[in-house]
Amino acid sequence: MPSLLFVCLGNICRSPAADGIAQSLSKQRGLDWRIDSAGTGAWHVGKTPDERMMMAAAARGMDLSPLRARQAEPDDFFRFDHIFAMDETNLADLEQIRPAGAIASLSLFLEQGDVPDPYYGGTDGFEHVLDLISARMETLFNRLQQD
Ligand code: 4NP
Repeated sequence: MPSLLFVCLGNICRSPAADGIAQSLSKQRGLDWRIDSAGTGAWHVGKTPDERMMMAAAARGMDLSPLRARQAEPDDFFRFDHIFAMDETNLADLEQIRPAGAIASLSLFLEQGDVPDPYYGGTDGFEHVLDLISARMETLFNRLQQD
């Protein structure tokens, strides 16, 4: 049974969205996968996701309000099977803290390119991020269910 960790910069926009989408897909498919999210930065530790992302997710039937931001740590590489970075910078930052003997696989979440950071943009950015993450999550789950 795979365990998945989604990582972005602040853990208040993109990775909580991935967390919520993965949890709802996991439930929908009757899987009992362990799913979590984290940020490479510590600015928002302990905070709920960004209001704009919570609103956009709620409109799609997902409640992100129980989530609290935390910072990714070296130990995550022993606690999860797969760690997915939302963009190239997140990936490089995770490589910096990856311990020797790490167990988790580390890769970009999208097969190509970055999930754009919606933090400083308009509301369209949040919808786009949810669309991108939802589409990719379906194919990712299909692949992991075959493993
Ligand atoms: P996230 O978005 O990485 O998708 O959670 C951001 C949230 C906060 C900041 C940057 C990106 N920030 O600079 O505070």
